[in-house]
Parts: sequence; C-alpha cells; structure tokens
Amino acid sequence: MKLTSPTIVALSVLATQAQLLPFSSWLKPNNARLAPPSSRQHQQEAIMNPGIQLPNEPSKPDAPSTAGGNEGDSTVILSDVISSQRIINIFAGFTRDISSVSSRLDTTSQNTTVLAPLNSAISDLPRKPWEDPQDYAALGANAYSGEDGEDRAHRNLRRFAESHVVPVSPWKEGEKVKTMGGNTVWWESKKGSAVVQPGNVEVERVASKVKNGEVWVLKGVLNYAE
Ligand SMILES: *[C@@H]1O[C@H](CO)[C@@H](O)[C@H](O)[C@H]1NC(C)=O
Repeated sequence: MKLTSPTIVALSVLATQAQLLPFSSWLKPNNARLAPPSSRQHQQEAIMNPGIQLPNEPSKPDAPSTAGGNEGDSTVILSDVISSQRIINIFAGFTRDISSVSSRLDTTSQNTTVLAPLNSAISDLPRKPWEDPQDYAALGANAYSGEDGEDRAHRNLRRFAESHVVPVSPWKEGEKVKTMGGNTVWWESKKGSAVVQPGNVEVERVASKVKNGEVWVLKGVLNYAE
C-alpha cells in the first residue's frame, strides 16, 4: 500500500517525538536498523544469544524447562530482550513507543507473554497498524495530520501493540486471557504448532524466556480492530 503524504507527516512527527525509529525503519526495510542499543541492552544481547534460538520450541511453549538458556539468569527481563531479535524489531519499536507496554515489560512484579508479529507480517498488512479505515471514512486523507491526527495515530498504534500483550506467563494452552488491549485470546496446539486464537495465528517460535515472561514470535498479526 502506498503511503499518503499526510501519513508520512504524521509518522515523522511521531518518530521525532519518540526519538526512535521504528516507523521509518520499517517503511524502508532495506535500511532497517535497530536503534543503537544501550550498553545494557548490548550486554544482555550477548548474554541472551545462546538461549534465544529455539526453533523446536513453538510446539511446546508450555514446557519452559526444555527451552534451555535463559531461565537461569534471574536478572534479565522482557524489556532487555525484546529488541534483541531483528525479525521482530518493528514490533519491538512499538513496545518501546507505547508507554503502557514499555512499563509493563519493564516491571518484574507482573509476568507477560508478548506476542510479537514478524516484521514481514506487519509490513504485509493492507494498512499500517496506526491506520483505521473508519478514521479515513470520517476524516478523509487528513485523518493523521495535525495534532489531532498524531493523537489518533498514536491511539491506534497503542491499540495494536496492547492487543499483542498477554498479561499472563506462563500462559497455559486453552487459557482465555484478555490482552492489555481488551481482546480475548487463547492458544491451542494444531498439527504440532501452537496457534493463537481467534484467527489461527501460528507461533513461529518462543524467542525468549526471561524472569518476567516470554516473547513469542507470531507469523501473523492478531485482529486488533474493536
Ligand atoms: C512468573 O514467571 C515465572 C517464570 O519466569 C514463574 O516462576 C512464576 O510463577 C510466574 N508468576 C506468576 C504469578 O505467574
């Protein structure tokens, strides 16, 4: 889908406000780069790397003991590891931008399962996560320009991000949970894969298991519209 110029304006303003580059970085996939990691993140990345490649894990996301790696290090938390994998760095950028989500991932007193769609799943969407057809219908091409437009885009992005944050971990098969965004989700095993419902969204793998939760990589996005 081609971006309209008001959207680009809204995006650049948002990106400037946030002083981060998730929006622009994935609009130009060839130049996609992570924001420079803080030295802490960098250290954690080095620590986490041996434990985050878990290709056999998605069929058994309820069996953390088989994952190997991360659980031993009790100081590493989700906010440390969410940005360590390039395949989900678009979504990781959203989690940093949306304060409700970033503080959730930064808290050690509550566990979270982050359902992070692959970069490709987000860039293949027919519209950007902060675009809502209803906004265009009501407001036309300028839906995301100006201050109101920025707020609107930010609200929509927040809804998208929060709809992929499950406030429970470990998350048992079949357990229906309301995400931070308010949508109810659960998961089940299907043909050897874990599939998040509703929508049959396949879990590619469990990318990280840390003290306050897990990061699951999704092959698609969940339905975040109300
Ligand atoms: C939080 O996750 C840890 C594993 O990382 C687990 O041992 C603990 O029981 C979980 N706490 C809750 C309240 O689910």
